[in-house]
Amino acid sequence: MKLSGKVTSGLGKASFFLSQDFYKDNFLKRCGFMPYPGTLNIVIEDDYLDRINRIKEDCTDIIKPDNDFGAVKYIHAILNDEINGAIVFPAKSQHSDNYLEFIAEMKLRDYLNLNDGDTVLVEF
Ligand code: CDP
Repeated sequence: MKLSGKVTSGLGKASFFLSQDFYKDNFLKRCGFMPYPGTLNIVIEDDYLDRINRIKEDCTDIIKPDNDFGAVKYIHAILNDEINGAIVFPAKSQHSDNYLEFIAEMKLRDYLNLNDGDTVLVEF
């Protein structure tokens, strides 16, 4: 599925878990890249919510730490037809469902010159 959404700022929480070696190592092993410590938040239309929630429920790729950190589901995704990355669904998400959190190796705001409100395409 391919959908568009708008870049937005979040609460700055994701950079903490993505800077933990456990998650970094797992994403490297499973997705083939070491994620930049943070997630690009993408707000999507409510119309997509049912489908996204079904995808999230059905998703069996999960990183499950055995300590205090929460589990994270992830699904391979491509941003703007060029960036290989993943959408992550943290179990302890602070976001409402219409936020997608995209991870990639590079800092996307710099690499793609993105600002809040810019439209991006996500395919997965
Ligand atoms: O503060 P917020 O929750 O929006 O973001 P964060 O997950 O703490 O990430 C820090 C900053 O890096 C935010 O501005 C993200 O949009 C940005 N980011 C990025 O440009 N590229 C990534 N691959 C991940 C995050």
